Amino acid sequence: MYKENLAAEIRQLCEQKHAIVMAHYYTRPEIQEVADFIGDSLALAQQATRVSSDIIVMCGVHFMGETMKILCPEKKVLVPDLTAGCSLADSCRAEDLAAFKAKYPEHMVVSYVNTSAAVKALTDVVVTSSNAKHIVDQLPADAKIIFGPDRNLGSYINSVTGREMLLWDGACHVHSRFSLEALLDLKKRYPDAPVLAHPECKAAILTLADKVGSTKALLEFTKTSPARQFIIVTESGILFEMQRACPDKEFIPVPPETTESIGCHCNECEYMRLNTLEKLLACLRDESPEIVVDEKIAEKALLPIKKMLEMS
Ligand code: 13P
Ligand code: SF4
Repeated sequence: MYKENLAAEIRQLCEQKHAIVMAHYYTRPEIQEVADFIGDSLALAQQATRVSSDIIVMCGVHFMGETMKILCPEKKVLVPDLTAGCSLADSCRAEDLAAFKAKYPEHMVVSYVNTSAAVKALTDVVVTSSNAKHIVDQLPADAKIIFGPDRNLGSYINSVTGREMLLWDGACHVHSRFSLEALLDLKKRYPDAPVLAHPECKAAILTLADKVGSTKALLEFTKTSPARQFIIVTESGILFEMQRACPDKEFIPVPPETTESIGCHCNECEYMRLNTLEKLLACLRDESPEIVVDEKIAEKALLPIKKMLEMS
């Protein structure tokens, strides 16, 4: 009842304030239930360009709020918790990328969307896990490319495009800790279950996958596949939407290498979990915390984001 009351208050405030709640698939089930729109990073960015509301509340992580603000500078973009960061985005600081770029002046920079606005401002084209292959395929054959910050996604894109890219040595702490041993064991126990993996996982995991794709692509696969059971190798928040879309199918999450520090057998992104109904309600009520992006940085960062949307 408590959660239902909070959700009702959130919906009421959204109507009063002409606000919309957007959420990523990795957020808590109750956040996904109350959201107006749920998506992967690309769908969230595309949706931001279509909404007419005055306020967007982005339930996800900081870079997602920044991307919304850059795309919709005239709107108020709120996040329930400003400290919801991303280990992958943190693995590439703008000053380090600027120094790296200076060493390779002929290279263009392709950056994953999981980056700060300042890194995007140094980028030629942004990609997400949905469109990285499609966009890299469209770059001139002789283009020299720096790809960052995710080394796992980068080497996967290298392998599927055949392009040589200089890879930034960053990674997501959630996706790089999936247990290969547990995956091999689950494959033996569920031999008919396809393995669905996010491209931020390590190469050893990806080579065992039947489908590699963004959260949305994995979700779509479960809807159309005739299989009844699936082994899932991405953050466990996606299981909620998979189960909601396919109530009669079974989703088996692969655990991380060690469950001691996180206390459960699911692999959760603690930053995504910072989004709670209580914080969402408070942020709508107070219209704070708000995402602010330096105007000059936002102006530069908009170009590679727009380029991505055009090339998608
Ligand atoms: P998607 O774009 O596939 O939703 O991925 C976002 C993300 O943060 C993955 O860790
Ligand atoms: Fe960042 Fe990893 Fe969390 Fe995705 S799962 S938001 S890449 S820390």
